[in-house]
Amino acid sequence: MELLDARIERILRAAGRAPSVHNTQPWQVRVHGNRVVVRADPSRQLRHSDPQGREMLISCGAFVLNARLAARRESLLPVVTVLPDPDDHLLVAEIGLRPGPGPDIDELELAVAITRRVTTRSPFDDQPLDADVLQAIQIAAHDEGAVLRLIQPSEPARDQVMSLVRRAEALAAEDPAARGEEKAWTAVAPDRPDGIPQEMLGPWTFDDRSPVRRFLASAGNAQFEQRSTMAVLLTAGDTPRDWIAAGQALERLLLVATTYFVRASFATTVLENPTTRHDLRQALSLDAPPQMLMRLGYGTTPRRTLRRTVEDSVAPDA
Ligand SMILES: Cc1cc2nc3c(=O)[nH]c(=O)nc-3n(C[C@H](O)[C@H](O)[C@H](O)COP(=O)(O)O)c2cc1C
Repeated sequence: MELLDARIERILRAAGRAPSVHNTQPWQVRVHGNRVVVRADPSRQLRHSDPQGREMLISCGAFVLNARLAARRESLLPVVTVLPDPDDHLLVAEIGLRPGPGPDIDELELAVAITRRVTTRSPFDDQPLDADVLQAIQIAAHDEGAVLRLIQPSEPARDQVMSLVRRAEALAAEDPAARGEEKAWTAVAPDRPDGIPQEMLGPWTFDDRSPVRRFLASAGNAQFEQRSTMAVLLTAGDTPRDWIAAGQALERLLLVATTYFVRASFATTVLENPTTRHDLRQALSLDAPPQMLMRLGYGTTPRRTLRRTVEDSVAPDA
């Protein structure tokens, strides 16, 4: 790899802290002077559970949002063109980096939160989130063109959502291809720079209050919070452009949540199965496609999962 500008290297390192499905880190980068080109890497796609590459592009969108914020931290102005080639949806974005003013306090706060944000899979405390904190998190999604729809504990459709989560988990558990794919990316050796190590997989729950992904290697049964705050992230359409927008919205809302010490936990199996995804949309009378299902709450700080090195994510001819 050619010598990268130290600032671009820092930007790419921060971008790589993005959340990604099963920590697949499905992005590849090329650097041309002050231009960073982000491509989705189909060799890291969950071909069976995510045949359209929807979750892959959500993950890449989160990478782009981090890159934008990290650029601001370096006093650079990111000029982002999403999907610059309409015929190539793997070419996620081109990010031009121009000299700019220093970051304002909000930009700096979010850029600093990049390394503090982590996914949790443990039960949360039983403390409800304050309305103004939830509102700030919803505004963050809105700022990136998405909607974070809360599923209130009192909402009757919530039971239906939970039974759809259960159904999707049961169907995936019986699907050898889905299980094989999961096995390749989870319960990995603790020093592997991608995938999720065993100790991070968290417990499973038999109760019907909290949506949790049941990993093959989930460590036992636990009691989850009584009244979890659930939310679903929606985008206007369901195209690669919407999925990249969902990823940027997801990461912005997660970073804002991090600044309030709020953590997120995801249960997206229900959205990987087209039937349960459709049924969830019906159950909640959603007028837009759901992209992520999550719980939000306060709790212990999990360890950070590892990432590939910047060199590893940069394409060889860069
Ligand atoms: C599209 C997408 C789907 C995800 N689905 C789940 C899920 O169903 N269950 C879960 O525990 N984590 C899920 N995650 C979180 C990833 O596992 C997590 O981001 C990754 O392991 C890296 O860890 P970190 O977020 O702590 O940095 C998802 C993340 C993305 C971007």
